[in-house]
Amino acid sequence: MDIAILAAGQGKRMYSDLPKVLHPLAGKPLLAHVLDTARQLKPKRLVVVYGHGGEQVREQLDSDDIVWVKQAEQLGTGHAVQQALPHITDASDDSDPLLLLYGDVPLITEQSLLKLLAQADGGALAIMTVELADPGGYGRIVRDAYGRVSAIVEQKDASLQQQKICEINTGIMAIPKAPLAQWLDELRNDNAQGEYYLTDIVGQAVASGRGVLTEKPDHSHEVEGVNDQLQLAKLERIWQQRFASQLLQQGVRLADSARIDIRAQLSCGRDVTIDVGCVFSGAVELGDNVTIGPYCVLQDVTVGSGARIEAFSHIVGASIGERAVVGPYARLRPGTVLASAAHVGNFVEIKASHIGDASKANHLSYIGDADVGKRVNIGAGAITCNYDGANKHRSIIEDDAFIGSDSQLVAPVKVGKGATIGAGTTLTGDAPANELTTSRIRQRSFPDWQRPQKKDAKN
Ligand code: UD1
Ligand code: CA
Repeated sequence: MDIAILAAGQGKRMYSDLPKVLHPLAGKPLLAHVLDTARQLKPKRLVVVYGHGGEQVREQLDSDDIVWVKQAEQLGTGHAVQQALPHITDASDDSDPLLLLYGDVPLITEQSLLKLLAQADGGALAIMTVELADPGGYGRIVRDAYGRVSAIVEQKDASLQQQKICEINTGIMAIPKAPLAQWLDELRNDNAQGEYYLTDIVGQAVASGRGVLTEKPDHSHEVEGVNDQLQLAKLERIWQQRFASQLLQQGVRLADSARIDIRAQLSCGRDVTIDVGCVFSGAVELGDNVTIGPYCVLQDVTVGSGARIEAFSHIVGASIGERAVVGPYARLRPGTVLASAAHVGNFVEIKASHIGDASKANHLSYIGDADVGKRVNIGAGAITCNYDGANKHRSIIEDDAFIGSDSQLVAPVKVGKGATIGAGTTLTGDAPANELTTSRIRQRSFPDWQRPQKKDAKN
């Protein structure tokens, strides 16, 4: 089949400068959700109809498999499909329909679409419908005495009797390609909205003796559209709950499936535990037996088996080795690589650095642009001074070194194997292996020294 996605709507009710179909759901533009679902069906042609101001949409989501068609003026859904028509492939037979989707209806699933396509198989016009308790605003499905669909009547054109019909047109249809051009040609805009209604093709299909069949989606939320932030927020929760359920089914232990936000491709090994309030984005991979504490943010991160991320850690663009322990309150920035069993504790910030096996920086450190060997201990408050005001420089700390608390490593600088840096040292040159290096002045005591006293006790 071919697929056309209508995405020309401006989305006035979003009150936003961002085109509606670029608003993110689970971290991904609405239209990207629809495109991904469309691609699962392997269409011969994938056409997106975009509208005024839609160049941004095109730039952001462009890809070789998409034919972009501009609908400069929005004259109705029938007019929109007419713009797509020249790009549709020739129908080889009657089981080769045009599937119509909407850029602002993001949760539609492949399964539901396959059911709809099955209905269209013999050349029928197949329409996705749902029953709504409150059908106001939607096009109503009008059926004859035998229950056969005879028309779709828009809210504004519907009689009082028709307005009572609860079965509505979701807009999603599989349309036989052979008669479509003629049907579109014959559309008139002499209706309440002065638009070319695509829904009028139902009358033509009936008149030409083609079957008009309907199908329901597996879940009604699949066909809900986004017109404002309220609807977007609702669909975001549904999406999150759907993904959380998948994780639970795979055996991931979630402290609360309603308190996790996944805006990512998240893959989890066996026996993964995730506490409440975590946000995942980008591509995140968690190995077996990984534990994520409460309120962590992970973006583009891989976490090795048995690693533990403690509460309130913020990790972006990092790779965390097996059995490593991170946090609470750690900040790992892009280019951080922790080897196995490394420990990074509270209020430690690391950027573009490699931390070797079993090395530890447990308290209050900044490590930037550093290569840290194995079994190194970095004391509380020790920092690399990687920036001289103009350029960044690297620090090298070799295996088994011990960096005393509150030391500063003024890069470029190297600490040799097994070297010990005394607490409070400002290291401006390399420290030799296996030696103690200090830079502070010798400690003195002043036995006769007295604290200043207040001159007037009353003040
Ligand atoms: C349409 C259907 C209605 C259905 C409802 C479901 C018609 C005539 N009516 O009504 O039966 O119940 O959707 O939500 O088809 N669009 C374009 N170009 C246009 C007009 C619309 O791309 O010229 C796109 C919009 O961006 C939107 C979709 O088509 O994504 C539906 O358009 P909208 O104006 O919302 O149609 P409704 O009047 O709600
Ligand atoms: Ca609408």
